[in-house]
Amino acid sequence: MAGTWDELVQQIKERLDIVEVISEQVVLKKRGNNYWGLCPFHKDKNPSFCVTPHLGIYKCFSCGEAGDALKFIMKTRNIEFKDLIIELADRFGLEVPISHRKGDSTIKETKDQMSAATMVAAEFYHDLLIRNKDSNAEIALNYLTKRGIGNDIIKKFHIGVAPKSYTTLYDELRKDFSNDILEKAGLILKSEKGGYIDRFRNRVIIPIQNENGDFVAFGARALEKDQNPKYLNSSDSLIYNKSRLLYGLYTAKEAIKKEDSVILMEGYFDVISSQAHGIENCVASCGTSLTPDHVKLLSRYTKSRRIYLSFDTDSAGQKATTRGAEIIKEVFAGLGDIKQFDESYVSSDKDKYACEIRVIAPPEGKDPDEFVRSVGADAYKMYMQNAPLFIDFQLNSILQDKDKYSTPQEKAQLIKQIIPILSEIKNKIIRSEYIDMVAQTLSTDPDAIRSEIRIFERANLPQVERIVKNVTKNDSVLKKAQKNLLSVFLVPDSPFTFTQINEMIGDTTFDDEILINVKSTIDKLIYTVNNVKELIEHLYTEFVDNADAQTLLPELIAISEVYRGLSDEDFRSVIKETINKINHCRQIKETEQIKKLYKGIDDDDPEALKIQIQLRDKIKKNRQKIGEI
Ligand code: UTP
Ligand code: MN
Repeated sequence: MAGTWDELVQQIKERLDIVEVISEQVVLKKRGNNYWGLCPFHKDKNPSFCVTPHLGIYKCFSCGEAGDALKFIMKTRNIEFKDLIIELADRFGLEVPISHRKGDSTIKETKDQMSAATMVAAEFYHDLLIRNKDSNAEIALNYLTKRGIGNDIIKKFHIGVAPKSYTTLYDELRKDFSNDILEKAGLILKSEKGGYIDRFRNRVIIPIQNENGDFVAFGARALEKDQNPKYLNSSDSLIYNKSRLLYGLYTAKEAIKKEDSVILMEGYFDVISSQAHGIENCVASCGTSLTPDHVKLLSRYTKSRRIYLSFDTDSAGQKATTRGAEIIKEVFAGLGDIKQFDESYVSSDKDKYACEIRVIAPPEGKDPDEFVRSVGADAYKMYMQNAPLFIDFQLNSILQDKDKYSTPQEKAQLIKQIIPILSEIKNKIIRSEYIDMVAQTLSTDPDAIRSEIRIFERANLPQVERIVKNVTKNDSVLKKAQKNLLSVFLVPDSPFTFTQINEMIGDTTFDDEILINVKSTIDKLIYTVNNVKELIEHLYTEFVDNADAQTLLPELIAISEVYRGLSDEDFRSVIKETINKINHCRQIKETEQIKKLYKGIDDDDPEALKIQIQLRDKIKKNRQKIGEI
């Protein structure tokens, strides 16, 4: 019996795991009771997006976006509440009350029919092959046998064959599906003469399953040598998004969890052969290069995020390896550590690192498919066990050509390629070890390499950091004032309630990330705690794994002691003065920046005069404001 709509919503909420839901879009890292990641709602450089599983909520401490699992899905997928509830009810096998059933989204119906058509097509192509029902079946079976693919594998991967003729599939499926659905599912194309023809012809058909095992698309390999393209792929559709789907994931996911690692390959047959030969934790993208969404998808299955790149060993494959590693690093950037660049490599605490990238590149060349068939799965596993970290792989591939670089100039050129790699290493000891290793291999001075790294880093310092350096003095005053203001919340026996203090602070904002973070946590906590002691305790728990906060909190508590025992009036004026100071520093900072811009203007430029006048006005205005304070 279907209950009420509200009951249904409640049941769905109970079934949704917020960490699981958000992990589909955001790579999360556990810290204490919370999970942290880069906020998907604004351009986040450091993880300010926090998921609190026991409350079922998320909040970005930087942009303020917050809500529960349902709101997250609605926002990220741009879907209406009602449609979402109906979709989820369907997924969890819950009944939707009649009052809400009519007017079900038509998109959902279309999708369902597209899925059904794709499944029927997959069965149809597969059946043609295994029952030898088409003249092409023989050819395809021979081709597959030559590739070492027997009946078992054909069945496991539902491999099929598309006949040469133009409308075999269409003639079969038009009985049950509309042209519109078949076209949307990418199974048929409008022909030039009008009418429709099959999209896939004269090819081995590799059906593509999504994570849940539904057939959603096809990769189709040419049967003949000069047939182009070699692989014809389904285009993206309502049920298929290449940049979010990985071939083989449905059959690999248990193994990925069990092995706690995943191997990324390039081709469909790489995955098919490897999985068939007992290397089951492998997947491939479908005719596209690796995307950040692929990486996020994978990170949900492997806890330690150990990702092996096993691409072709030719130069295109090498490029794909570098690009792939870059994408992985980008996704994990700011989320903490990447195993190869920091000390967590030797740590036993699995939660400490964000990911680990290794490269499988057997010297025999060959793609994984050819390798496992000709050299063997055991040998492949050996290479996997000994797979170097990406950084070692990178350095080795540069250093292996070292003999070609013998003059001082050539050596300098070679080292120039290595500098950016070394500069990525955060841990000073690991960095130093690598520098020594490189110096030794090239018989050069490690200090010279160190100095080149410093030059490189200075030149590549992000713009913001440089500005910050210039105004450090003023900034430290600003930061101190902001710390003072925050510490007001922690004053024991303060004459005011938390809410009153918040009113006095008004819309004064904080600049430093950790201060912003602590302030918004205080904002949240003051509704649940009863006194300063509880507030402090909760703050410590919230930031248990945040080293910056762990340093900041005692500092704030120490400052708050100074304000202890103040009268109402004095307490109020301390807050007012602090806010004035903050505003004052901000004005100075702005003026400094304008001055810098002003100086940088080229006098010969006819536009310069106009800009100069504007800037002068602005500086004047700022001076006045400062005077007022
Ligand atoms: P490769 O050209 O490396 O082929 O393409 P492969 O996988 O080794 O194929 P076989 O062994 O010759 O059959 C790698 C992957 O790139 C995509 C496919 O996903 C393929 O598996 N690709 C390649 C295309 O989408 N279209 C093409 O025309 C070629
Ligand atoms: Mn191949």
